[in-house]
Amino acid sequence: MRHIMSPLDFTTEELDKLFDLANDIENNPRKYAHACDGKILATCFYEPSTRTRLSFESAMTRLGGQVIGFSDANSSSASKGESVADTIRVISCYADICAMRHPKEGAPIVAAEHSRIPVINAGDGGHQHPTQTLTDLLTIRSMKHKLNNFTIGLCGDLKFGRTVHSLIDALVRYDSIRFIFISPEELRVPDYITEMLKEKNIPYEEVIRLENVMPELDVLYMTRVQRERFFNEEDYIRLKDFYILDTDKLALAKEDMLILHPLPRVNEIAVEVDNDPRAAYFNQAQYGVYVRMALILTLLGITVE
Ligand code: CP
Repeated sequence: MRHIMSPLDFTTEELDKLFDLANDIENNPRKYAHACDGKILATCFYEPSTRTRLSFESAMTRLGGQVIGFSDANSSSASKGESVADTIRVISCYADICAMRHPKEGAPIVAAEHSRIPVINAGDGGHQHPTQTLTDLLTIRSMKHKLNNFTIGLCGDLKFGRTVHSLIDALVRYDSIRFIFISPEELRVPDYITEMLKEKNIPYEEVIRLENVMPELDVLYMTRVQRERFFNEEDYIRLKDFYILDTDKLALAKEDMLILHPLPRVNEIAVEVDNDPRAAYFNQAQYGVYVRMALILTLLGITVE
């Protein structure tokens, strides 16, 4: 039995196989329509979600399986004081695989330690969001036809942004990736990440102004300033509109730059950008379904000929 807590739980060769499978699902959805007949996915979400929870539910339904779960800690027995360890022991009696989101970093790891079924980390606090990273990598691979040799700018909340932390961890394993971190001083990428990049001799820059680096980017990964991670409302209000990608700024970018965003968006990408052919964030949401279908099949050990 295998869990996924971090994108590093898969080797790059395993990721290639996963992405090949996701692309095959994209091209031949009927072939997979009954692959999970009789299987049940539990979605245990202690924190709000639209994309991750619903794309998992869509993925399992499209594979012929069924879904149970809760979308709010208050509607589960966590509100009565039940531990994650006890909850997953019980969920193991009801389902074949579980996707869990939790505000506490490491909670899905605790679940995995007490589980009889595969557990997928669907986001834990400001720590990791591996299935978003699988989505991001599949989107880049499908739209750029490679996962190496490019400059990626990560912009916004790089301190609390778990999607950013997971994506950097995953990308350092590919050749010739250069990182440009674009954030206000208060939301800089954590030191453990820059230390890791220095140790691995991977080039990176930290800048404040997006406009200054826009012409260099092959991929721009925008992120939201996350109100729910701030201790102080004043700091959130001061920083929330620090970056707004609009058509004026986009005029500085390469013609084939890819704009990604894990979503939800607030103000950081102006709606006028949505019509630009470089805007790939809604394609990204679609790839999220294919990659989660591939992940469910892989973790359940189901092959389709
Ligand atoms: N990208 C993402 O995790 O979105 P949700 O919070 O809506 O799941």
